[in-house]
Amino acid sequence: MKKILLLEGVHPGAHEKLKSQGFHVEGEKSALLGDELAKRAQGFQVLGVRSKSQVTRAVLEKNPQIELIGCFCIGTDQVDLKFANQTGVPVFNAPYSNTRSVAELVISQMVALSRRMADRSRQMHQGIWQKSALGMNEVRGKTVGIIGYGHIGSQLSVLSEAIGMNVIYYDVIKKLPLGNARSMPTLADLLKNADFISLHVPDTTWTRNMIKADELKLMKKGAYLINASRGGVVDIPALAAALKSKHLGGAAIDVFPYEPASNEEPFKSELQELENVILTPHIGGSTEEAQEAIGHEVAESFLRFLKYGATTGAVNFPVLDVNDPRGVTRILNIHKNVPGVLGSINSIISEFGGNIVGQHLATDSTVGYLITDLEINEAKKAAEKISQLATSIRTSVL
Ligand SMILES: NC(=O)c1ccc[n+]([C@@H]2O[C@H](COP(=O)([O-])OP(=O)(O)OC[C@H]3O[C@@H](n4cnc5c(N)ncnc54)[C@H](O)[C@@H]3O)[C@@H](O)[C@H]2O)c1
Repeated sequence: MKKILLLEGVHPGAHEKLKSQGFHVEGEKSALLGDELAKRAQGFQVLGVRSKSQVTRAVLEKNPQIELIGCFCIGTDQVDLKFANQTGVPVFNAPYSNTRSVAELVISQMVALSRRMADRSRQMHQGIWQKSALGMNEVRGKTVGIIGYGHIGSQLSVLSEAIGMNVIYYDVIKKLPLGNARSMPTLADLLKNADFISLHVPDTTWTRNMIKADELKLMKKGAYLINASRGGVVDIPALAAALKSKHLGGAAIDVFPYEPASNEEPFKSELQELENVILTPHIGGSTEEAQEAIGHEVAESFLRFLKYGATTGAVNFPVLDVNDPRGVTRILNIHKNVPGVLGSINSIISEFGGNIVGQHLATDSTVGYLITDLEINEAKKAAEKISQLATSIRTSVL
């Protein structure tokens, strides 16, 4: 029975899910580093971490029995992905479990911006009662312009329409519009026509500073800008200038070009003290529901790999999306991606009288991943011989 070690207080839902399938699961509340991690991981085939435990090459070299790693978060740079790939260890993460949390935050920000809620609340804490309807608006009937119509952007589209807003969006890829949302041919068209602009693009060389002085100028006077995507997407000094000149009516910013590494480090930004500006410390995806969903998403990836060999969603590995082998034997083989591997494996299978009923192969530049479904009596012996091929990295029978 495979043993699973989950570090950094991974959500209890993940423990339960894996235990219910008969796996031995142990957990640690805190992160482990270096030798401490290398020692604690001994005897475990599956390792789950969040963002702080560093799964370095040294940790993996000392634990060659580790065959699967899960990052119970979005980032994966705490794992030596290249070395994991070369040694046949798929790494999974949970990029989409906090989609809804981000979309909900943006909905609240649109309402809060159009009611100047941050300023009113601050004044109340200072003992200032300033009741006025002037310049306060409902969001109903207003237009939100969504830049990046991916997982979060499209979820925001649905929620925005549910509260009576019109939705337009701009994406570099053709995306199916949900509900009554309309795609805009250019970024400029979107900027000119929306009362709220919300950014949901990844951090790439094309999106870095995609909203700067020229783009802000195209926005309607009094419109609002929301960024809960990545800090580098908005030119912050240009945004501060557009807010000070009152060209924009306000902004809600959750992500910054430079973010403190810990809660102890202070935060500084040109946007501090500006009117109708909501600043939040990258909390778009930080909810208990998202943590629970992350636990389930990665545990599900573990189960699909351990039960079927599926690598769907692996970040460092050739992807094979397979299901239950339905009564036949399944041999998994991870090998160096060099010519002739398939032929060598298939001749071993014929040597053992195996009848192949299905075969799936995916490769990247370094490794190949072969799943063979077959009728065979001596699967273990055949797999043992396959594992001895010079090209084989890992071989197992399900
Ligand atoms: N604030 C938070 O806590 C938080 C939480 C989760 C995700 N995020 C960030 O939100 C962003 C969106 O996440 P997602 O899961 O929706 O990603 P996604 O990959 O599902 O969607 C991104 C979309 O942006 C589009 N896109 C890429 N480049 C573009 C460009 N130059 N112009 C227009 N569209 C472009 C893509 O085609 C895609 O449709 C990411 O940057 C992610 O890191 C932030």
